[in-house]
Amino acid sequence: MTDAANAGFTPRIFSGIQPSGGLTLGNYLGALKRFVEKQDEGIETIYCLVDMHAITVWQDPAKLRDQTREAAAGFIAAGIDPKRSILFNQSQVPGHAELGWILNCVARLGWMNRMTQFKDKAGKNAEAASLGLYAYPALMAADILLYHATMVPVGEDQKQHVELTRDIAAKFNHDFKVDFFPLPEPVIEGAATRVMSLRDGTKKMSKSDPSDASRINLTDDADAIAQKIRKARTDAEPLPETLAELKDRPEARNLVNIYAALASEAPETVLERFAGHGFGAFKPALAELAVATLSPISTEMKRLMADPAEIDRLLGQGAERADALARPILERTQDIVGMIRSRRG
Ligand code: TYM
Repeated sequence: MTDAANAGFTPRIFSGIQPSGGLTLGNYLGALKRFVEKQDEGIETIYCLVDMHAITVWQDPAKLRDQTREAAAGFIAAGIDPKRSILFNQSQVPGHAELGWILNCVARLGWMNRMTQFKDKAGKNAEAASLGLYAYPALMAADILLYHATMVPVGEDQKQHVELTRDIAAKFNHDFKVDFFPLPEPVIEGAATRVMSLRDGTKKMSKSDPSDASRINLTDDADAIAQKIRKARTDAEPLPETLAELKDRPEARNLVNIYAALASEAPETVLERFAGHGFGAFKPALAELAVATLSPISTEMKRLMADPAEIDRLLGQGAERADALARPILERTQDIVGMIRSRRG
């Protein structure tokens, strides 16, 4: 624990992924692979498929259900053990919405107005965006604080939201004169905290990009993965010896970072091996590594997806465990705020 403010709190990890489309290589390297590493470090880990966040933009109901199950299958196939970690979908634990409302009343409009993800997602016509999309970061703060989580592994793009969570927690503690919520730390580690599009090295790889060639999906088969890497945009220069020389070559830098993250190596180590080689040599090596890493995951996902009832059962069990942790924290929050809780049963 690096933050003195969290000295009295048990280290606990919480993170979430929106089931608003298939999982991408960006989700895998920036989040999921690291979720598995944290689980294996023996810290208590809680992972959530945030379906309530997903509906801040339109979701077809049948697809949302499928994508939530597919994401759960992706987590398990990548190595999340539903016995060791708590794995569930957000809407099955009502405390998220309940604490979310209280935190809506703590967060300030000025803070929300600075959130870059809202500006990106709402686009030019912010008046037509849902109220939920605007309040989204306060619900994310509730996700984390509902469990008194102290660490939040995320990709670079979520850093601002975790920092907002700290601000909301600090304001709550200050307003009510308590030391109740920890100030959670964003944990942004590794070579691939921001995986870029394969078609444009200045844009984030995203499940919502209209071009499927821009991303690798966890459900892609070996041929699709190899083809997307072969067609990925690059430049004509050979790979350099140092990372500094990749500064103005976003596409090349992205592929080196992807290689490094897949191999669990430093990008410098990858350059040591490939310096002087062109993409004609590097891309096949990257494709081979990507297929070797991702194919077993997609095969296992398919196997798990064949039994949706079993996935639902596992999510239900995870939700019960999550609820048991969340309930006393929510009730203490309600007491602090001054809400009467006299209902029996
Ligand atoms: P989401 O669903 O957009 O992404 C899930 C996780 O994947 C990471 N990620 C990436 N990392 C590297 N490169 C990329 N191209 C890339 N694309 C996505 C994200 O940083 C994230 O860690 N608001 C969150 C979901 C959320 C959440 C939470 C996260 C809701 N509540 C509480 C942590 C804690 C989101 O939209 O992530």
